[in-house]
Amino acid sequence: MTIHLERNGCWIRDGEPADAEPIAAIYNEGIRGRQATFETTERTADDVMSWFLASDAARHPFLVAERDGVTDRQVVGWVRASAYRPRVCYAGIAEFSVYVSASARGARVGDALMTAFIPACERAGMWKILSRIFPENLASRALCARHGFREVGYYEKHASLDGAWRDVVIVERLITTNLI
Ligand SMILES: CC(C)(COP(=O)(O)OP(=O)(O)OC[C@H]1O[C@@H](n2cnc3c(N)ncnc32)[C@H](O)[C@@H]1OP(=O)(O)O)[C@@H](O)C(=O)NCCC(=O)NCCS
Repeated sequence: MTIHLERNGCWIRDGEPADAEPIAAIYNEGIRGRQATFETTERTADDVMSWFLASDAARHPFLVAERDGVTDRQVVGWVRASAYRPRVCYAGIAEFSVYVSASARGARVGDALMTAFIPACERAGMWKILSRIFPENLASRALCARHGFREVGYYEKHASLDGAWRDVVIVERLITTNLI
């Protein structure tokens, strides 16, 4: 198992199928919070397992953050790249999602995850990573700003969540070493 980084009281390592349950639980907290995603369908550990088994999983970094719990280390966050578009010309662009468990937010777990994730994307050959963020999600916007993302602009009324049309901010970060 590759440990990418030890920082801010947590260890960042490659995620693995055995992490599927806490990954799903953390994602579901984010879904319920209604500030992170248009998704409203909660995921099971089996759903997460299928992410690891996807044909393109090997080329998309998927990292977890662990911290010491009462008895053992616990997964408290994750970050995952996924394909941007199927066209071959976009093969080096990845979308990403980052989620920290509610009880661990604001303790720089997200910061540690992104610190390890960007070099992992570079090693995987990505030249750009991007995401879309609800404008109200100040923690996510601050995290991306801290890690060199540019806010490209807004998609207006991108989709409806609980009957309300929501804008999103597009963020992108070039990985310049892969552009030379
Ligand atoms: C967004 C998220 C991943 C950030 O991770 P985190 O561990 O809580 O954030 P960190 O403690 O590393 O802080 C990162 C930055 O956000 C800022 N921040 C943290 N919580 C904040 C809050 N509630 N409001 C405003 N800024 C906040 C920090 O000050 C820090 O900024 P800085 O580097 O300029 O000092 C986490 O809050 C989360 O999982 N939220 C719910 C899911 C989500 O929104 N995911 C992103 C989907 S696009």
